Amino acid sequence: MTANQFDKKTEAWSALFSEPMSELVQRYTSSVAFDRRLWRADIAGSLAHAGMLATQGIISAADLGAIKAGLATISAEIESGTFTWRSELEDVHLNIEARLVQLAGDAGKRLHTARSRNDQVATDVRLWLRDEISGLGTLLVELQRALVELADRHTETILPGFTHLQVAQPVSFAHHLLAYVEMFSRDAERMAEVRARTNRLPLGAAALAGTSYPLDREAVAKALGMEGLCRNSIDAVSDRDFAIEFTAAASLCMVHVSRFSEELVLWMSQNFGFIELADRFCTGSSIMPQKKNPDVPELARGKAGRVFGHLMGLLTLMKGQPLAYNKDNQEDKEPLFDSVDTVKDTLRIFCELVPGITVKAEAMERAAARGYATATDLADYLVRKGVPFRDAHEAVAHAVKHAIQAGVGLAELPLATLQGFHPGIASDVHGVLTLRGSLASRTVVGGTAPEQVRAEIARHRARLGK
Ligand code: ARG
Repeated sequence: MTANQFDKKTEAWSALFSEPMSELVQRYTSSVAFDRRLWRADIAGSLAHAGMLATQGIISAADLGAIKAGLATISAEIESGTFTWRSELEDVHLNIEARLVQLAGDAGKRLHTARSRNDQVATDVRLWLRDEISGLGTLLVELQRALVELADRHTETILPGFTHLQVAQPVSFAHHLLAYVEMFSRDAERMAEVRARTNRLPLGAAALAGTSYPLDREAVAKALGMEGLCRNSIDAVSDRDFAIEFTAAASLCMVHVSRFSEELVLWMSQNFGFIELADRFCTGSSIMPQKKNPDVPELARGKAGRVFGHLMGLLTLMKGQPLAYNKDNQEDKEPLFDSVDTVKDTLRIFCELVPGITVKAEAMERAAARGYATATDLADYLVRKGVPFRDAHEAVAHAVKHAIQAGVGLAELPLATLQGFHPGIASDVHGVLTLRGSLASRTVVGGTAPEQVRAEIARHRARLGK
């Protein structure tokens, strides 16, 4: 066999070169250590490409047979761990192709007809990401279900709702959890949209200009389950906006996980005492025997940062590149892979963590009662009696001030005392001062009234298929 690029461990890249790459340069440019995880997509792409080449009469049926057999062997070798990955062969594409040439001879050398690594790698990354996004979509559904099931048990559990982290108004714990269900449902929606734009075929673009061979790109797209073609060959090989979009969607998802985590950490602290996390999600301290730390949510909050970092990395990677393909793009993989891994592991662990939350309902209710959470209800009560809202607000502020000084809740003030703050207050006032009365009154669509929240739970269950 004459020397070819697969011999470049010892030989030059091609006849054009007068010396081989230095070892340092080989190490610097090699990506196989990380891009080998694209191998399934690489083989799937090659099979679809080869099948189409044969159908179009560009390679023979015998060549196709040899390519298929060779790729099947390679799959088995990689799967079983017997495949020899060679870093000097640079990337996953050249490693697989070199082995195919060993196994299939000239047929293997014909596989790369009408193809470049530029459209090949863009196809591989899109195929790989498309499937990972499907997996994340499933996890997002599972997480929403876990939250909905927990919510279902707590439509009557009073939680102090906060603004500025000050007790504001009573809400149900279920209502609070359903806020996260909304966020994660939007994350799933975003992921599905990103998936659709990712799932388009670059193959056929070749190096950048397209190819003169009579390819059937539609057939390749169909064989790979892709939803369309990249319509411009230069764009097909050069842009990685789908990876950036994905990382942006992943970042938002991590923002939501991180906010939830922050709340879990706060709620679990002794000062709140609202929840307990199952022991299997906590760790102890090496010095303080009494400690049980919510490490999992803390770590999730921390891991959000690395995904945001990857988003910034990918944006920066792209911004200065002239069209079309540049080697810079090899740097898209590690941030993308790590973003997927981080979000996937985080969602998986939260799917298990949520059902393991123990809710301390009395502690939540006590905190709401202590916080004058029904002050707005008293003001609204006066408004219903014809008092202008601003006047009602002022009268209630005086009442709250008095109650704080007396160390009691609003509901504990005698009627006569309350009437001292506004004569419009009558004996029916105590109904509006209770936490449950406040909750029940917020029946607006999207409000915290138990009937409203139960309707939302039913809607989510129907939507999530459970
Ligand atoms: N490993 C390369 C990448 O990740 C594959 C494409 C290389 N193309 C090239 N013309 N050098 O982008």
